[in-house]
Amino acid sequence: MRWLLLALLVGGCGGGDADRAGRLRAAGPNADLTTLLAHADVDAGRRAFGQCAACHTIGKGRQALAGPNLHGILGRAVASDSRFGYTQALKDHGGRWDAARMDAWLAAPSRVVPGTRMAFTGVRDPMERADLIAYLQSESR
Ligand code: HEC
Repeated sequence: MRWLLLALLVGGCGGGDADRAGRLRAAGPNADLTTLLAHADVDAGRRAFGQCAACHTIGKGRQALAGPNLHGILGRAVASDSRFGYTQALKDHGGRWDAARMDAWLAAPSRVVPGTRMAFTGVRDPMERADLIAYLQSESR
């Protein structure tokens, strides 16, 4: 019977990410980005990407929607997909997307890049952002 109880408990956790609580516990309180990334989950990130998918494709060579295709975005220069018309604000952001910059952007796009056209409030949960970054990374190869 114990397995049944366990299955019920696990099944009861929200979002289908059964080990999220365990991952958060393992990362510890106020974990920094590096620690969160060490406990991030690509599948959870893939699910979280559902909130991006209305505006972004991620498959290699897929077309832009309201936002640019995000294949291989980590390590790529900011605003560098020649098929997409970026705002001057995002072009001026400059540099390359690494985990830290992506984390800040995903938390609050219009605070990091005032004037961006990415109409998205941001992801408040740091673990969810780490999951998203892990997923973006997995789609960078
Ligand atoms: C409502 C549509 C919309 C949603 C939802 C959205 N984005 Fe965007 N995104 C955009 C647009 C438009 C741009 C281009 C912004 C600009 O040029 O200022 C953009 C740009 C980006 C860029 C920069 C791309 C580059 O080539 O430098 C990244 C990274 C990104 N989005 C990630 C995400 C992720 C991850 C999510 C989900 C958590 C998300 N976006 C949700 C519309 C959206």
